[in-house]
Amino acid sequence: MENITVKLGKIVSDAFVKAGYGGDSAPAVTVTLSDRPDLCQFQSNSAFAYSKVFRKAPFMISDDVAKVLNDSDILTAESVKPGFININLKDSCILSLLQELAEDEHYGIAQQSGRLVMDYGGPNVAKPLHIGHLRSAIIGQSLKNIARMCGLTVTSDIHLGDWGLQIGLVIAELNDRHPEWNCFAEDYDGSPVPELDVDLLNEVYPTASARSKTDEAFAAKAHTATFELQSGRAGYMALWREIMRVSCEDLKKNYDALGVDFDCWYGESDADKYIPGLYALLEEKGLSYESEGALVVDVAKEDDKSPVPPIIVRKSDNSSIYATTDLATIIQRQQDFAPDMIWYVVDNRQEFHFTQVFRCARRAGLVPDDTKLEFLGFGTMNGKDGKPYKTREGGVMRLSDLIGTVCEAARARLDESGKVDESEREEYAKRIGIAAIKFGDLINHRSKDYIFDLDKFLSADGKTGVYVLYAVSRINSVMAKAANEKGSFEVISTDSERALALKLLSSPESFGAALRERAPSFVCDDMYNLAAAFSGFYHENRIADEEDASKRSTRLALCALTRRMITAELDALGIKPVEKM
Ligand code: ARG
Repeated sequence: MENITVKLGKIVSDAFVKAGYGGDSAPAVTVTLSDRPDLCQFQSNSAFAYSKVFRKAPFMISDDVAKVLNDSDILTAESVKPGFININLKDSCILSLLQELAEDEHYGIAQQSGRLVMDYGGPNVAKPLHIGHLRSAIIGQSLKNIARMCGLTVTSDIHLGDWGLQIGLVIAELNDRHPEWNCFAEDYDGSPVPELDVDLLNEVYPTASARSKTDEAFAAKAHTATFELQSGRAGYMALWREIMRVSCEDLKKNYDALGVDFDCWYGESDADKYIPGLYALLEEKGLSYESEGALVVDVAKEDDKSPVPPIIVRKSDNSSIYATTDLATIIQRQQDFAPDMIWYVVDNRQEFHFTQVFRCARRAGLVPDDTKLEFLGFGTMNGKDGKPYKTREGGVMRLSDLIGTVCEAARARLDESGKVDESEREEYAKRIGIAAIKFGDLINHRSKDYIFDLDKFLSADGKTGVYVLYAVSRINSVMAKAANEKGSFEVISTDSERALALKLLSSPESFGAALRERAPSFVCDDMYNLAAAFSGFYHENRIADEEDASKRSTRLALCALTRRMITAELDALGIKPVEKM
């Protein structure tokens, strides 16, 4: 369905022509939602731009256009000094647009096309997910959902950190503890390696990492193990596969709990086979050169405000690094998906890394010139002290602990209210907890830091996920009272009905805005506003018990459409509603 402001833009544009303001030099006409909803529903300020071209006072132009517009049977227009055109839709038009929206299979979202690869997640194998991975997962997942709902073809890739020093550290530590394991033998025979479990991994990595900081010999061993693994040493590869098995199983469980999924579970290790080709290409194009033993590529630009040093693509010990795998992965993605865009949803603090990687990729022509490589950075989730959120002991918080804490608090509230059956409370608490976390995150523009505030996030008033879930459960109970009669759009008789209707008609545009700005906050904010408009409507109108049949029918249809729209928005944000609260 066409966006309502686009549709009106065309009508008003035609009116400019009809009023005598046409021709090649005529500026584009735009219509927006009104800044002053108390005065009108929509407005066009285009007369100001026309005034320059047609050398006439804006007010004279807006007057002429409004006159033409008032011949229309779908809207009324008013010219307001110094040159605004205020527009209101006639109720008959609102009703038919609502009907069209209710029937639209895409929830009224204007459809686009394009191929997009999304890189979010980026967890490191053998390390438990911590809260730093939360934002990537929930912002990435919801941007993916939004892009799909807008018609794009999206492939998501988790891009596991599975090839770096962290694996070498785990191998070295396990080797110290179990020198007798078959996988450590020089002449490893390919027999199955000992089974690991996630608790062991979660303990081994931090131990090894701490040890490498004080024990130089151990650190050297871990580096050697990393290099030997990357060179394909059979016993290490077998152990690595076991580490991957255990780690991925655990990651899947955690992402599942968050409602986050990936189409591809590729890792940095999968980029390995593209690395020789990368080096060859960089050399062939004369881009790479040696510097202090390392292989580097210049990526500085003349207008850089601060220096951008060359990107290192191979270290002096011949090993590949983070940038190498990211470049090689671009080759793989181009080959497998030929995308129009690749989006990286990664912590703001990695922006510089991506600046270097993208510039190198461009110079090397790893993707066509018109393929967009975009870094979509996100801010930090902070505690109330304004510093990155930590455990009480000051450590990095595991994601599962954070989710556990929020869901427990949600459960306590359900126990207190007693409205939900005991048997359903566990599932409800999970949904409400996840809704609180996700909404609390997504309501902020992704690039901004925000403060994690459990009480605020779980509150039923204010801009929260719980508020929105309440609205949905309220619609459910109203509709249940009317035996789930769907209703139909027949008559608008109150201001709060009209306000809800207009909110519904503009909601689909929030998807386009979120996609354009690469920020789910547009949908999240719209969803809240829609829930608030519903709440106004609910308090000011009788619904299921309204005696006038046309009014009741219309109100029930508004309930059904609101539920459909909010549910689509919840879906986009990866939040599951609850039946009642
Ligand atoms: N594993 C990385 C980290 O923990 C994040 C990966 C982000 N994605 C990428 N293509 N580099 O910092």
